[in-house]
Amino acid sequence: KIIVLDFGSQYNQLITRRIRDLGVYSELMAHTISAAEVKALAPKGIIFSGGPNSVYAKDALKVDPEIFKLGIPILGICYGMQLMAYDLGGQVKSDNGQYGRAEITVTSDGAKLFAGTPKKQNVWMSHGDLVTEVPEGFTAVATSAECPISAMQDLSRGFYGIQFHAEVRNTDYGNEILKHFAFDVCHAEANWSMDDFIDLQIKHIQETVGDKKVLLGLSGGVDSSVVGVLLHKAIGNQLTSIFVDHGLLRKGEAEQVMASLKGKFGLNIIEVNAADRFLSKLKGVSEPEKKRKIIGAEFINVFNDEAKKLEGIDFLAQGTLYTDVVESGTDTAQTIKSHHNVGGLPEDMHFQLIEPLRTLFKDEARELGEKLGMPSDLVWRQPFPGPGLGIRVLGEITPEKLQIVRDSDFILRDEIKKAGLDRKIWQYFTVLPGTRSVGVMGDGRTYDYTVGIRAVTSIDGMTADFAHIPYEVLAKISTRIVNEVDHVNRIVYDVTSKPPSTIEWE
Ligand code: XMP
Repeated sequence: KIIVLDFGSQYNQLITRRIRDLGVYSELMAHTISAAEVKALAPKGIIFSGGPNSVYAKDALKVDPEIFKLGIPILGICYGMQLMAYDLGGQVKSDNGQYGRAEITVTSDGAKLFAGTPKKQNVWMSHGDLVTEVPEGFTAVATSAECPISAMQDLSRGFYGIQFHAEVRNTDYGNEILKHFAFDVCHAEANWSMDDFIDLQIKHIQETVGDKKVLLGLSGGVDSSVVGVLLHKAIGNQLTSIFVDHGLLRKGEAEQVMASLKGKFGLNIIEVNAADRFLSKLKGVSEPEKKRKIIGAEFINVFNDEAKKLEGIDFLAQGTLYTDVVESGTDTAQTIKSHHNVGGLPEDMHFQLIEPLRTLFKDEARELGEKLGMPSDLVWRQPFPGPGLGIRVLGEITPEKLQIVRDSDFILRDEIKKAGLDRKIWQYFTVLPGTRSVGVMGDGRTYDYTVGIRAVTSIDGMTADFAHIPYEVLAKISTRIVNEVDHVNRIVYDVTSKPPSTIEWE
């Protein structure tokens, strides 16, 4: 394995991801790790991540200098390179900084990490300080206009530094560089896969939990379901799950999740039907933020009420992904993203958190789910917001309106799937704006609701384009919804992107 020492860069986990993609196990470790601990881990190589600090900062993050004497190859990225230069006797200068794309020139034929790549190449720079003099034993091997020493190497000790971020896609040959480090320098073997991740996590969970008990909040989404199956595999019935049905789920969703997790995988699940509780709290409320807050708070209340009935629980498991950790803006284990379904711990209960997906990206979590034998419908489920259909009935929520959204959404999903578009469109659903208009059905006049179709393509939900669903498919969806769902006489298609719109209407 190759370990990555964390100096606080927002890309640090991405480095481990890129190394894992090469088939080499990689894990992020605290920069405070001692040389003895590193030695015990026996990694094939070490990567120092970037970081927001300067080596001259009062609280600069340091590394145990003995690590340089272990005979293990080291790659320093950005701050990692500066730290290496500074610790080994080179010079680092504070500078105005450089952010974004830059062109570097490889100046040495023997630049090992750049073998087989062009002399001139684009890289992604994001740094304040820079190295102005390499330490003894090193040579500078790449340069750029703004950063004269863009890369350095000491072949005999196996030490390498790059001032740019090889882990981000904007660096044209980043992957080659990491590949050269992993295989040509560290001589790592490409023999790691998701199966190994499962084995490792199971072992880790078993060691952490021992004979104690774990509680999990299931939301019906991908992440918490994958955690449930993984934990069940590791500790069986020491895991208890609570599934809160707030009555705002899609048609068939609760049943599907139960059938799979309880039926197929045998998880011990306490199912709480709290639809009435939620609906009565939401009665008369039409302001979107207020609705969201009520749903979020009630979720925690219901979860806590159930959790309090259980005894002897020491751990709380969550499906936190790496992206959630980044979005929350901190890397302390205790931070829980505010819009997570299970958003708060009972105050009088002190759980330790277990977050086995913390190092994974969404697509890796899906791969993990598939490896665990979960059905692809569940694993490839589109994103679904915590407040559920509650924010797709605009304004005040009534059971009648919920029914319209639920039924129309079901038809939309069915037709999108039949058209083979379900994996191509990132998210698709119907909304009920609440306006009514005049129509004609049979020989009679109708005065009924309009249903909106929202379908978007996106990578991460931060920005989105409206999906270009073929007219024939739209026509079919429109006909079916008007014919099969009571009180609907008009269908509209949302053709705005995000920004300026958002994906959800509330
Ligand atoms: P917006 O509407 O902000 O949505 O463009 C972006 C993505 O986030 C989802 N979303 C939520 N997810 N809890 C969630 O877990 C929420 O409160 C929430 N609100 C929006 C939305 O479905 C879309 O995928």
